[in-house]
Amino acid sequence: MLLDGRIAVITGGAQGIGYAIAERFIAEGARVVIGDLNFEATEAAVAKLGGSEVAKAVQCDVTSAADVQALIDAAVGWGGLDIMVNNAGITRDATMRKMTEEQFDQVIDVHLKGCWNGTRLAAGVMREAKSGAIINISSISGKVGLIGQTNYSAAKAGIVGLTKAAAKEVAHLGVRVNAVQPGLIRSAMTEAMPQRIWDQKLAEIPMGRAAEPSEVASVVTFLASDMSSYMTGCVLEITGGRHI
Ligand SMILES: NC(=O)c1ccc[n+]([C@@H]2O[C@H](COP(=O)([O-])OP(=O)(O)OC[C@H]3O[C@@H](n4cnc5c(N)ncnc54)[C@H](O)[C@@H]3O)[C@@H](O)[C@H]2O)c1
Repeated sequence: MLLDGRIAVITGGAQGIGYAIAERFIAEGARVVIGDLNFEATEAAVAKLGGSEVAKAVQCDVTSAADVQALIDAAVGWGGLDIMVNNAGITRDATMRKMTEEQFDQVIDVHLKGCWNGTRLAAGVMREAKSGAIINISSISGKVGLIGQTNYSAAKAGIVGLTKAAAKEVAHLGVRVNAVQPGLIRSAMTEAMPQRIWDQKLAEIPMGRAAEPSEVASVVTFLASDMSSYMTGCVLEITGGRHI
């Protein structure tokens, strides 16, 4: 097993990609602490994942440093923090003509500030242990820029800069920081999309299909494990060849 005995924190893990990451981490021998805004869904996720032996639910808003610190403390109280996955996310899509300042701020806050909170606070614990892996969930939208997503593309591109800067700061302390850029993944976030937009996106994918959340989880597991021990500051695309 790739993550035997490790303890991981996953933000936004009550459903979707974060949940699939939790499932795979547990299958690889880890215990997971899930921090999500939606506590009821997080408790239900923990039950589905196998209960309190392998998972813990914590209510957490990633835009609050105090909440993220409490989330990390829950992992430390359980034995330590080996892996941090900054995954929580929202979309508030609209063209610039229609996007409100509030929609811009909300998306930047959850993704970029949330990721910064998670990265810096996890690194603070990991540097003491002289080891750890942080994985930030960016998006292909941050590489190419997508119409209707000036907020989301900016936040997801920002996560790439944050990942690289943080990787340089903590590499000598044994802490690795990497990012992934998923493309079109089946989750509540994408299922809310109109069929016409879904079909347009599908047409751009050389592999001709969307991905399952488990296909993101396997790449994140690789970055969390010692299989990627000499990788830091990397950005891996999980897109079926879209926008290469
Ligand atoms: N689905 C895709 O196609 C896709 C593609 C690229 C990147 N991503 C990214 O992957 C990540 C997961 O997306 P998903 O598709 O699973 O979405 P999702 O909507 O299914 O899940 C997101 C989770 O984040 C939680 N969350 C939202 N705001 C939060 C906050 N402030 N604090 C804590 N938790 C919060 C939600 O409650 C939810 O459980 C996001 O960062 C998203 O931007 C998704």
